[in-house]
Amino acid sequence: MTESREPALESRWKNGAIWPDNHGVHINAHGGHIVHFGNLWYWYGEHKIEGWEGRLAWHGVHAYSSPDLRHWTDCGIVLPVVDDPRSPICRGCRIERPKVIFCRKTGKFVMYFHSTDANHTLARCGVAVADQPLGPFRFLYAERPEKGCWPLDTTPADRDPAAIAACPKEEELKSWHGDIIRRSNILGRDLPNGQMSRDMTLFVDEDETAYHIYASEHNSTIHISRLTPDYLTHDGTYVRAFRYRWMEAPVLFRHGGRYFLMMSGCTSWAPNAARGAYADHIFGPWTEFGNPCEGTNPDNGCGPDLTFGAQGACVFFHENRHIVMLDIWNPENFIDSRYLWLPVKFQADGTFRLPYVESALS
Ligand code: DGJ
Repeated sequence: MTESREPALESRWKNGAIWPDNHGVHINAHGGHIVHFGNLWYWYGEHKIEGWEGRLAWHGVHAYSSPDLRHWTDCGIVLPVVDDPRSPICRGCRIERPKVIFCRKTGKFVMYFHSTDANHTLARCGVAVADQPLGPFRFLYAERPEKGCWPLDTTPADRDPAAIAACPKEEELKSWHGDIIRRSNILGRDLPNGQMSRDMTLFVDEDETAYHIYASEHNSTIHISRLTPDYLTHDGTYVRAFRYRWMEAPVLFRHGGRYFLMMSGCTSWAPNAARGAYADHIFGPWTEFGNPCEGTNPDNGCGPDLTFGAQGACVFFHENRHIVMLDIWNPENFIDSRYLWLPVKFQADGTFRLPYVESALS
């Protein structure tokens, strides 16, 4: 496999450039998560290969560590794919948007990811656990969350048995069937086997309660679910936020007493306009305030309407700033997808902006 190599040292940490690891190889951890454990930063993400084939998982979840966010050591694959075709993490499946959190109560590192097959039909949440930040992570299960549980914001109409029976089967609906999805009782249909779970993130609140935020109901609606105290599963408490807004790539953070979300529209890997939202409680009500992006990415000419050519992956907190990491996907050659780090600017009106900057670390 050929890899993208460092072109010039002066391009280091310039947004959209090749970002070299300790071997001079472009960091390969896409849809990722940057998180601080102990004295080090860790960067987990999807290991991509060249070409369109890179959309699938051929290796697993790749991790890097760094003392300072500038020097990254390649720590290898911490959740490898397996050769058993019956396994949810078999070679050639999809392991997307991995996120890792530390559970103080159990002392374990817990990884969640979007787990699905090559054809994207499964919409499950995968969970793995490790004793150390660099694993090895032990795969636990891949399932649909909230089996048998109604959300906190359930309405009487949601429970209507006739509406549930009339809902088209999952395999009859495609993402472009927006109107049918909006009119159908997907929530009730999926109650017995669990809710669909695709693009996702994790968030640990100040009181150590953890949440799983994921695109559900054929990507039409974001669900926010509370996890059990050991973070290993959902505790049955969740809400349906942003109903029928068709959003993906959720990135959630907190500043003061307020929660913020950045999300994308649903155009797969192609960039679209980001959307921002805030709430005073993680379960809402959430208020959307439009596109937080400002400025233009000079390398590709993309402005806010295309989120600088990128899509959100995660947020990390460094030197008093929340920094959003985004992926500039390259579906023609996934291994050459690039990254943006953009510091968040909180506004007096209670919203946030995401201005384009050349580098978040200069
Ligand atoms: C939709 C997401 O928003 C993309 O970034 C990517 O994760 C694809 N799904 C992958 O299938």
